[in-house]
Amino acid sequence: MLPDIAINAEHLRKTFGDVVAVDDVSLTVPTGSVLGVLGPNGAGKTTTVRMLATLIRPDSGHATIFGRDLTGDPTAVRSLISLTGQYASVDEDLTALENLELFGRLLGFSGRKARARGSELIEQFGLSAAANRPVSGFSGGMRRRVDLAASMIRTPALLFLDEPTTGLDPTTRTQVWSVVRDLVDQGTTVLLTTQYLEEADQLSDSLVVIDSGRVVASGDADSLKDRVGTRSLEIAVEPARLDAAARVLRGVLDATVTATPENGRLVAPIADPSLSARAVVALEDAGITVAEISVRRPSLDDVFFSITAAPAAPPASDTDAATESGAAA
Ligand SMILES: Nc1ncnc2c1ncn2[C@@H]1O[C@H](COP(=O)(O)OP(=O)(O)O)[C@@H](O)[C@H]1O
Ligand SMILES: [Mg+2]
Repeated sequence: MLPDIAINAEHLRKTFGDVVAVDDVSLTVPTGSVLGVLGPNGAGKTTTVRMLATLIRPDSGHATIFGRDLTGDPTAVRSLISLTGQYASVDEDLTALENLELFGRLLGFSGRKARARGSELIEQFGLSAAANRPVSGFSGGMRRRVDLAASMIRTPALLFLDEPTTGLDPTTRTQVWSVVRDLVDQGTTVLLTTQYLEEADQLSDSLVVIDSGRVVASGDADSLKDRVGTRSLEIAVEPARLDAAARVLRGVLDATVTATPENGRLVAPIADPSLSARAVVALEDAGITVAEISVRRPSLDDVFFSITAAPAAPPASDTDAATESGAAA
């Protein structure tokens, strides 16, 4: 039986020369849960993971993994964990299946067991058609799937996933999420870093937001959203009346109103949801027809924006995220 707490880290700190990569990170992950570590590029996510996975030693602070001391008993810690890096580490000349078999053999599996587990993962990750092709011809997304599969050969007690889906297309991302959920169902504890707020929202039981090497917020997604408090009111009107409608809304809400002429929408923060009815009445009084109205809870994006004063930088290859941030700018 594993202890109830998978990770307990207190005041971890790591510097590289003058660079303070991780200033002060404390976090706790209950066994069997998924912690999402969210933060912009350079926040200290990878450094935190590398310390917790025994790859680098903290300058100060301490941590236990399933009760084993990180620096005092690294061998015991290593036997309980598996890590997938941000960058793929597979052998280019081998096929996908051969890569997985090799990793299995390295973990001490018999040839037969290594092949069976490799085949199982190939199927789970939707790589069946490419199983016997050398990885050198694979797309980035396929390569990542092989890399992720390799880290899951042995169902580890604790799996670190460092930005597992950065740069992946939406279909592959969904596949990765489902494999992660399967592992969690089998009892694996997961610490996942991500720049994707939706990913954190989808997979995590709790979240830690780090910025400049420090924990700036923690809790579950709902409690973080509640912290922001303010909801937003979104109203669609005829595009020709957008400016007039914006003036009316400003008067009623006494707030900044953002207009997007392309889709005839107005968005404004509202602290009190009942103001939305007053807004509609005022618009109708001004002869403006409201085509659509909605009041939206804050998203994790809003949370992130309010805490770090900068949205998580969407990786350049992710068109969806890029469009979203473009529209918000
Ligand atoms: N080996 C290293 N040598 C020098 N600086 C580093 C090293 N690793 C990370 N850093 C710096 O530490 C900070 C945190 O990096 P990292 O942990 O990789 O952040 P993240 O994974 O959140 O993007 C960055 O400023 C990065 O440049
Ligand atoms: Mg990183």
